[in-house]
Amino acid sequence: MDTTIKIPWAKPDIGKEEFDEIKNSFENNWFTLGPKVKLFEKQMANYCNAPYSAAVSNGTVALDIALKTIGISPGDEIIVPAMTYFSTASSVSYQNAVPVFVDIDKESYNLDHSKIVQSITNKTKAIMFIDYGGNASDQSNIFEIAKKYNLTVVQDGAQSLGGTYHGKPMGANAEISTMSFHLAKNLTCIEGGMVFTHNKNFFKQIMMRRNQGEVNNRKYEHLALGTNARMTDLQAGIGLAQFKKLPKFLKERKRVAKIYDELFKESKLDIKVPKTKHSDTTNAYFFYPILLNGRNNIAQALRSKYGIDTRIAYPMPVYDQHLYKSGQAKCRHTACPVAEEVTKKILNLPIFPSMDEKSIKTVVNAIKSEIK
Ligand SMILES: Cc1ncc(COP(=O)(O)O)c(C=O)c1O
Repeated sequence: MDTTIKIPWAKPDIGKEEFDEIKNSFENNWFTLGPKVKLFEKQMANYCNAPYSAAVSNGTVALDIALKTIGISPGDEIIVPAMTYFSTASSVSYQNAVPVFVDIDKESYNLDHSKIVQSITNKTKAIMFIDYGGNASDQSNIFEIAKKYNLTVVQDGAQSLGGTYHGKPMGANAEISTMSFHLAKNLTCIEGGMVFTHNKNFFKQIMMRRNQGEVNNRKYEHLALGTNARMTDLQAGIGLAQFKKLPKFLKERKRVAKIYDELFKESKLDIKVPKTKHSDTTNAYFFYPILLNGRNNIAQALRSKYGIDTRIAYPMPVYDQHLYKSGQAKCRHTACPVAEEVTKKILNLPIFPSMDEKSIKTVVNAIKSEIK
């Protein structure tokens, strides 16, 4: 633990309830792919309105399984947002397929649907979208394009949990979607992930692929290329305890975001705060991203002078990451002026359920002092 940090950027709420679930697994003597995994899958599927769900070990492996399940082959192209977490794109490269980076929207920082069509070729097989920081993508436009060009949509819903889009829960909106329960996420299993699908045949494959391609009830018979992506009952138990607290977590995140919004409005600083694009859409506030000039120096000063930790998510468009820039993995991209600009200015401020008003004011005042 870094003792110089007074206000962390994220602070998971893990305590007695989670510990009791783990203790219960020891008492029941069931540690992996057991009753807690099944119950966690059921609760998450209900919450996200998906008929099928499979718990896995993390969000990255969930993406790998999703892409194998929809049949991505070497050389296929997949449209991905130019600004996202690395594994949205690297999961494509793992299939020896080609991520095609498309610019992001000015308001939500998600895939800009109006720029997708110009990137489609006869090799394009799928469109992947995320909901950056819990803020909804323009899903209906993306689904419309996919339908017209006969493409599969994959939702990388790692950051989506708890948000709503046109009144519907976010995270399992595509035919196949994935989620992450990493430590900092709105709901954590410490590490963990899930694949959701609305397609029964996909579900059978996902269940095989998460367990070495093995057929259910036929031990050591392997029908497909799978891996060890099994979630333990210890992780699922933590997830179950977290699930009970999720409404409170989301309410508190909203509260923190609202206070930031008001303080920044009053401050009249030249700072852009997050905006939801549609009126019947709610932001899950996994991140509270602001755009500001002089971002790098300010982030550094916040940490060294005030003990405030932030996240620069993400510091460059993914095509500028070494893997792609060096040619180790293939990619394509069109001009992405918005992603270029946003990655220079974006800073994700501390946000977590137990963050009090005093800490929020400390963050805003520190930014004020550093800007002047
Ligand atoms: C958009 C996105 N995709 C994928 C992942 C990968 O999830 P995990 O860290 O559980 O492997 C993350 C995690 O931060 C993410 O934010």
